[in-house]
Amino acid sequence: MGKNLITWNEGYSVDIPELDNQHKILISILNRLYNSYLNKSHDKDIVPLLDELKDYTKYHFESEERLFKEKNYPMAQEHIKAHESFKEELLTIIESYNDLSLVLTMKTMTLLQRWLTNHILKEDKKYVGYI
Ligand SMILES: [Fe+2]
Repeated sequence: MGKNLITWNEGYSVDIPELDNQHKILISILNRLYNSYLNKSHDKDIVPLLDELKDYTKYHFESEERLFKEKNYPMAQEHIKAHESFKEELLTIIESYNDLSLVLTMKTMTLLQRWLTNHILKEDKKYVGYI
């Protein structure tokens, strides 16, 4: 096993097993990306991981948004806006990586790490007890 950029612990739990599992998967994708960064992996390893991150993020956001709707979560609109802005940010990161064939930088890794931990600990924690 490689190094972890983020390690899931109970502090990240949103009390919904399905969403906790999805968060664990997102964390594991980021950790794999981090190891590719540490190992200075080539595009052929990094491009599929970025795609996986993009696709799984989309899937995860859709799961959350479906639950917001089902449970009439009052702060859904604000949360969905945060999802939209992250999806755009992620696309920008991926496009600039693909276009310029940049190596992953620690700055990018830190940005993704901060985003994911903030997403879970700040945004998602607000729906605990609602959905
Ligand atoms: Fe989430």
